[in-house]
Amino acid sequence: MSKYFTYILFFLILGFNHQVVAQAYHFVPQPESVSFSEEVFILDKNTKVVVPKKFRGVLIPYLAEKFHDDLGLNLTYSYRNPEKGEKHIQFKLDKRVSVKDEGYLLEVQPASIVVTAKDYGGLFNGFQTLRQTFPLENPGTVKLPAMTVKDNPRFAWRGIMLDVSRHFQPKEFILKHIDVLSSYKVNKFHWHLTDDQGWRIEIKKYPNLTEKGAWRADRTGVSWWQREKATAEEPKTVGGFYTQEDIKEVIAYAKVRNVEVIPEIDVPGHSKALVASYPHLFCYDEPDANFEVAVGGKAPDNAVCAGKDSTYEFLEGVIEEVAALFPSKYLHIGGDECNKSNWKKCPYCQGVKSENNLKDEEELQSYFIQKVHKIVKAQNKTMIGWDEILSGQGAPGATIMAWRRGDHNPQITAPQDGYPTIMTSYKYMYLSQVQGPTFMEPEGPKVVLPLSKVYGHEPIPEQLTPEEVNRVLGNEACLWGEFTPTQEHCEYMLYPRALASAEVSWSQPNVKDWKRFQTALEEWHFKRLDQEEVNYANSMFTVYASYALDQLKGEAHVYLNTETVGYDIFYTTGGEDPTVSSIKYEGNFIAAPKTPIKAGLFNKEGKLLGKITVIRLK
Ligand code: ACM
Ligand code: ZN
Repeated sequence: MSKYFTYILFFLILGFNHQVVAQAYHFVPQPESVSFSEEVFILDKNTKVVVPKKFRGVLIPYLAEKFHDDLGLNLTYSYRNPEKGEKHIQFKLDKRVSVKDEGYLLEVQPASIVVTAKDYGGLFNGFQTLRQTFPLENPGTVKLPAMTVKDNPRFAWRGIMLDVSRHFQPKEFILKHIDVLSSYKVNKFHWHLTDDQGWRIEIKKYPNLTEKGAWRADRTGVSWWQREKATAEEPKTVGGFYTQEDIKEVIAYAKVRNVEVIPEIDVPGHSKALVASYPHLFCYDEPDANFEVAVGGKAPDNAVCAGKDSTYEFLEGVIEEVAALFPSKYLHIGGDECNKSNWKKCPYCQGVKSENNLKDEEELQSYFIQKVHKIVKAQNKTMIGWDEILSGQGAPGATIMAWRRGDHNPQITAPQDGYPTIMTSYKYMYLSQVQGPTFMEPEGPKVVLPLSKVYGHEPIPEQLTPEEVNRVLGNEACLWGEFTPTQEHCEYMLYPRALASAEVSWSQPNVKDWKRFQTALEEWHFKRLDQEEVNYANSMFTVYASYALDQLKGEAHVYLNTETVGYDIFYTTGGEDPTVSSIKYEGNFIAAPKTPIKAGLFNKEGKLLGKITVIRLK
């Protein structure tokens, strides 16, 4: 019997009590095992919260904030064990508990709630599961269902990447989303801090990186791909950067939320902002060279010179500061999509190439990566790179982010070649792609990545042996920033697909269930996101419409579709908006050419769930 049917059965058995249990049903990500009993724990202001002494400084303020914001409750907090008979919620560290790192046991009983884990991450994650049983309305005294949850992460790496170079997003935005994403057990925040269109991290040794490199000419309103290059004279008003103090604040805030922050400094390509700030790192002097921060599009000639010693000396200075600032053992150096056209014309690059018997520019890239790898290792960090760093000699000892698919299959070759690998498939995990019919979504790459496709992703390729599977550290969703100038738009692209990615990264495939997930979003998480003031997309409810014109008969065959299950499509053919009194879609139908079709998706209560799709047949 599937999990889903077990739940249904449980609702039926519980009858009137089902309201309490129905809330518990909405877990995202779905835990490994959940069992309910009929009893309840009454959470009210007389409940004492007990935390391990060594975590009291971080955990108490966090828990106090959440109990207050979620439920309006000011509880008492302590690291001392509860008195006999005292109603309590206890967070307990126990090295013997049979869960993995970051896993937990959550036991809700009438007199107590106990979260037991081996580590801080487990206690934090157990609390997030408990929070998902909180009602969203009528906070105050609440009844929580008695239950036992045993839960473990599928992957140790459950990441989200945000590109803040193409469009800078302020520190407050970063903090907000670390808070929200961590409540879905995301534990890695990969911060893509540099690219052609802006350098976003203060480096004290090289102030020009942010004085010049963080700012670009304003091309707002012009399509990203059609922007005219900036001139030296025009004002540079678009951008921003994080000071090292900002970054420390983000790291500390993330640590409380069990999130590790991984910086990315993208070299040797994607470096136009860097060479604009320090032109001597470019390959050669050209009288008409443009050393302005890119304003959009692709920036040719964006690579730093791979042949000059000064490049490596400079990068050493950058990496030293970045390594000192970020406590993560990882440091991401990019390595992707390097345009090598200037290397081919550069006397320094060509000199190094022949001195080292390098066959071509691919091998020169490999030479570059190996030199940078040495610098990273000297800082006691593990280098991460996009999968292009596998080319040429590769980079033994590095960790790979496998993003390409098709001509390259790093999701298979990297673990086969012994590399720890993080799956970031551009086909399933690039949240910059639009998530509904393109004509109904904001501008973006014209590829549709609907929520269900993200949710359905299986990060482990079936070709891998168990030993190779062990090298897969996890999964990460990436939001590239070309088309997301505003915070609202970033949120729209991130949510709810980041929640689907969170479940892909946390839950075992056998507990995943699309219908349960989409229902959980509709009934609980969208309301929670509303409360967090997150501008999520409801594109999963959009009706996809298509038709085939039968010219022989002069009629159109219309097809309506939705990625969701359990909801009904209603449509009209006379131009009016559909309601549940309109025609229910039961299968493709025939309509006359020029008919206006309007369709919407409705839940059982007759509520329109998404936007109305409007098409006019030709
Ligand atoms: C990438 O998408 N260039 C990593
Ligand atoms: Zn060069």
